[in-house]
Amino acid sequence: MGNVYVMDHPLIVHKLSLMRDKYTGGKEFREAVEEISSLLCYEAAHDFPMKEVEIETPIARSKVKVISGKKIALVTILRSGIGMANGALRLIPSAKVGHIGSYRDPKTLQPVDYYCKLPNDIDRRDAFVLDPMLATGGKALAAIRELKNRGVERIKVICILAVPESIKAIQDAFPDVDIYCASIDEGITPEGYIVPGMGDAGDRMFGTK
Ligand code: URA
Repeated sequence: MGNVYVMDHPLIVHKLSLMRDKYTGGKEFREAVEEISSLLCYEAAHDFPMKEVEIETPIARSKVKVISGKKIALVTILRSGIGMANGALRLIPSAKVGHIGSYRDPKTLQPVDYYCKLPNDIDRRDAFVLDPMLATGGKALAAIRELKNRGVERIKVICILAVPESIKAIQDAFPDVDIYCASIDEGITPEGYIVPGMGDAGDRMFGTK
C-alpha cells in the first residue's frame, strides 16, 4: 500500500490557511502554491538515493555525498498543476517538465484527455505528478496510468489537498504510488469541490473567475 505523507509543518499549515481564505488575492495565492509545492517536493525527495564521490575542499580531499539515481520528471496536471512547477523546479532544477491535460466532465466527474506532452526520456525518469487538488483523483489516476504505460517505474503524487476518497482511489489502483499533501480534507461536494478546500485552484491562480 502506498504511503500518504501529510505535511503539517507550521510553514505549510500557515500558507495553506492563507490559500483557503477566499479574500486572498491571486498574487498571494500563486506565491503560496509555489512555496508549498517547494516544501512538499523537499519532503518527497527524502528518499532520493545518494552516492559517494571524492572532491577537494579548499583544505583537503574529502568523500562527500551527491544525489544519484534516476532523474526526475515533473508532470503537471493542467491547468492548476502549472502553478506548482516553478516551486518544484526551484528544488529540482535538473527536472524536465511534462504536461497532461484532462478536464472533468461536469456530469460524470470523469477525466477527458485533451493534451499530453512528456519528456522524450520519460521512461528513464522517476515522476512527480503535480496536482494541487486531489478531489475525485480521476485526473491524477489518468496521469499515473499514462506514465506507467510509457514505462515510468516510480511515481509520487504531490498535491496540496487530498480527501479520503481520492487517496483510496489511488491506493487501490496503484499501491506502489506514494502521496504527499498538506492536508486531508473532509470530502467533496456533489459538484466535485473539496470541502472545506480552497475553491477552484485554477480560477484562483489565473484569475479566470
Ligand atoms: N479542483 C479544484 O480546483 N478545486 C476543488 O475543490 C476540486 C478540484
